This record gives sequence, C-alpha cells and structure tokens, in this order.
Amino acid sequence: MASTDITAAAEWTALARHARELQAGGVHLRELFSVDPGRVGRLALTAGDLVIDCSRHLVTAETVELLLALADRAGVSERIAATMAGDPVNATEGRPALHTALRAGPGASVVVGDVDVTTAVSAELNRMAGFARAVLSGERRGATGRPIRTVVNLGIGGSYLGLAMAHEALAAFRRPGVECRFVSNVDPADLATVLDDGLDPAETLFVVVSKSFGTPETLANARAARAWLSAALGPDAADHHFAAATANAAAATEFGVRAGDVFRVWDWVGGRYSLGSAAGLSLMLAIGEERFGEMLAGMRAVDEHLVQQPPVANAPVLMGLLGVWYRNFWGLQSRAVVPYSHRLRSFGSWLQQVVMESNGKRVRLDGNPVGCDTGEVVWGGTGTDSQHSFHQFLHQGTTVVPADFIVFARPDVDTAHLPEAGRQHESLVANCFAQAAALAFGMPSDDPHRELPGNRPSTVIMAPELTPSVLGQLVALYEHEVLVQGALWGINSFDQFGVEHGKTLADAITGDLSEGSSRSASEHDPATESLIAHYHRLRATND
Ligand code: F6P
Repeated sequence: MASTDITAAAEWTALARHARELQAGGVHLRELFSVDPGRVGRLALTAGDLVIDCSRHLVTAETVELLLALADRAGVSERIAATMAGDPVNATEGRPALHTALRAGPGASVVVGDVDVTTAVSAELNRMAGFARAVLSGERRGATGRPIRTVVNLGIGGSYLGLAMAHEALAAFRRPGVECRFVSNVDPADLATVLDDGLDPAETLFVVVSKSFGTPETLANARAARAWLSAALGPDAADHHFAAATANAAAATEFGVRAGDVFRVWDWVGGRYSLGSAAGLSLMLAIGEERFGEMLAGMRAVDEHLVQQPPVANAPVLMGLLGVWYRNFWGLQSRAVVPYSHRLRSFGSWLQQVVMESNGKRVRLDGNPVGCDTGEVVWGGTGTDSQHSFHQFLHQGTTVVPADFIVFARPDVDTAHLPEAGRQHESLVANCFAQAAALAFGMPSDDPHRELPGNRPSTVIMAPELTPSVLGQLVALYEHEVLVQGALWGINSFDQFGVEHGKTLADAITGDLSEGSSRSASEHDPATESLIAHYHRLRATND
C-alpha cells in the first residue's frame, strides 16, 4: 500500500505522460474500436453473475498495463490481502475493516487479534434469524399481545442507506404480513409521515440501528417513537416495541431496549459497510433469513473474485483503476451511476456515502497531504427517467462524466404477470445499451446543435435478474472498488472524522435556537449569529 506519495512514483509519471499523448492525439472511442474490435473481449470481465463491460472507456491496452503497474507500485493487492485478513487497516481508529467477515460463511476462519470472529458472526446471524422467525411467525408479540405488523427502522447514513436501498431493490422478495418502513432524518416530518400513516402502536416494532448509539438524529427519533408508544400503550409497554443493532449495547439497554433484543455490530464493521451485519436486521425481517443469506452469499462470491482473480481480470481492481484514471489523469471529478432498474433507484444514494465518505480524504495514512485529488462526486438517477433529466448534459455538455449503467437481462420476478412486462423490459434494456453507445460513439452532424461528440466513457454492468444474490454481488463490487482506490491513494477509506465538527457546532447552535433561550454572548461566527437572529424573528411572526 502506498505509504509514500504515489504521485512521486515513476509509474504515475508514465501514466501522466501517456494521458497527455492520448489527449494530444485526440483519442476517440470510435477509433479505439475500429483499430481494435477485440477490446471488448479483453475489457468485459465477469464477477459472479455480473458481466462488467469496460470496453467503452478511454483506455488502450497500454493504458491498462500502466494502470496495473501503478496498482502494483501502490501495493493494492497487499492492501486487499491485509484488509481481508483483519489487519488494522483503519489505522486512525486502530481497527480492522472486516465487513467481508460478515459473509465469509460457515467453515471460514477470520482471526482478529486472537479471536476467530466467524464463530461470533455466525452466532449473531443465528440470533437475528431467530428473532426474525419469531416476529414473522407472530410468536414475538407486542406489549398487548398483538402481533407485529410494521417494523420501523430508525437509523441514518450507513445505518439506513444500505438497508433501505436493499429493501427497495428486493421488493419482489418481501415476506407478507410485516411491512418495513424507514426513518432517518431528524426533521420531524420524516417520523410523522411514517407514524401518521395508520400505524397501530400495539403492532409496531422500532429497530434502532446505530453503531455508536449516539447519533443525535437517530436518538431523537428513538425518543419520539418511545413517546408515541408510551402515549398509546403506557410507559412500561414501550420496551416491548424496540430492538437495536449497535456496537454500544450498554447505551441501548440504558435507553430501554431489552438485552435480548440488542443485536451486535462489531467495531470492525464500518457503518457504510454494515448491510451484512445486524444493522440489516430490518431487511432480514422484510425478506426473511434465507433471502438475507442469499445476499450474503452474493457478497461472498465477489469477495472471492477479488481475492482469487489476478489484477488484469479483477473487476473491482479495473473499475477502481478506471476511476483513478479519470480523476487524476483526465481531471474529471464526478461519475454518474444510473441503474436501469426502478427498484435500484436508491442505489446511487447508498453508493454516494460509500464512495464519498470513504475516499473524500485530504491526507494519506502517514498524515501527510495527498499529492493528488481523491474520491469522486457520485451522483445519478434511474434509467430511463434520467434520459429525460440529465442525459442532455452527458451527451452534449462541456463536462465529461463517466457513467456506470446497471441493467438486468430479465425483468423483476414479480412483474411477469403484466402482459406488457416483456416488451417494456426489452425497451428498458435497449435504452440502456443505446445510451452507452451514443455516449461512446456520438453522432456526427453538419448541424453543430445536433452533433453528439461521443467519446464519453461508460461501464455497463449486466446481471441475469435483480435477486438477493445479485444485489449482494453489486454491493461487494462497489465496496471493493472503493478499497482499491483508497489503497492506491494511500488514504484511510474507513474513518470519517470530517463529519464530527459539524455535529459539535450544531450542538452549540441548538441551545441558542430554543424558545426563550438566554442568548449567550455571540459565540458563533457573525453569519450564524445573523441567521439565529432572523430565525427568532421569523419564528415570532404569525403570518
Ligand atoms: O456520517 C457519519 C456516520 O458516522 C456514518 O459513518 C454512519 O453510517 C452514520 O453516521 C450513522 O452512525 P451510527 O450507526 O453510529 O448511528
């Protein structure tokens, strides 16, 4: 792993020179394909059930060789091995980043310190499964003896985005009888929307997902949920209607969650990597333990691909290197992620946290400033809707944005009953393929307003169908892409100190916003002071 500045390496210099040559020579995908139609075979990889077509990227065979040489110099393979082995790669917090241990499966052995964590992981999964069976069967009931009909997940960031995304993606696999809802924002409108929608407190279970059990938004929602339950069922009843997934069991039981309803998230699982942990309890309640296990198996398949495949055939490595190529040698700052799948409409939001909270870093692991840009802005939408939103920018804008398209050969399993589903799905797929082609090869025209320049790179990821296993494969694919990039840049992809100061400032400001707060001396910056004054004035008006 790059302990020194990778930008000082000869391999970096060689890539920079190569990039200048390609750019000066006006490299275009049209020419790259015409001189080398076989590039598709070299640049379309498979990982598990995923076909990952990277052929429409601004790379030649030489580019790939130089990128792989850079990865070798940076020690990417060694970083991957160290991460999977449970080394304390999250050096600033002195922890491993062992989300892969969550899905290592029976018979695996991953030792942290002198403990084989796979035994504890299996035991916790079994606890989760037992709890899910009890709720889904009606054995686990509320304080008044009514079965649980609605699970409300209270969590934010990695304690929300992944499982809400998976819950949406796997709608076809949800078990009947228990509905799952999600609340993340401290804005009372979020919880109110969920609670006002005819929810019966006697049949509602709140799952508080918070690794720290200290995130203000989640605790605020948990307190409000407890008040809602107590008002309807009495203060003693509320405890029956909470479960928790956390690394801080003491805080959870202090809040009132019964010890048997607290599920463990280990400190070596980063929040944004915790979908396969007890943080995914609400998802298991929604789709059942078998489907949850299939998702874990899908993750494992790509974990094995990462470890077993040489860099040249390694999908997360190639995808990660392509991101570095564009970020650092083409000066591109963002990437659009566009699943051609309605049920993956939240995939981009999940990936945004994984990429930007992991690699939005300005210093290397050795504490020195990075010598290059890191991370990337991940944004996107859902195809085909996005074609009626921002694809104009992608095709004819002045900023090149590499795109990731995700598409499935078969429609979602629960749509087959619709008479037009087949034709609609064919249209969805055709549009995905068309967009990648149009972005890459453009459309010459004598009319400058109608010309599409092309030369806009994209990856097309295709899988047979959106299933728990395929979703797990997609999650792991992108988790590992981020690992590869962090290793190459020599940064810590597993801490997030940048978010702490804002929380501290908010605490200080909150006290000055409450009704009749005795305004202390101006302890905030002048702009904040001005906003606080406007806030009180506006709050006081009745119009
Ligand atoms: O955004 C900061 C962060 O710590 C994320 O990394 C995490 O996923 C989220 O807040 C929620 O944290 P917790 O699970 O501890 O409530």
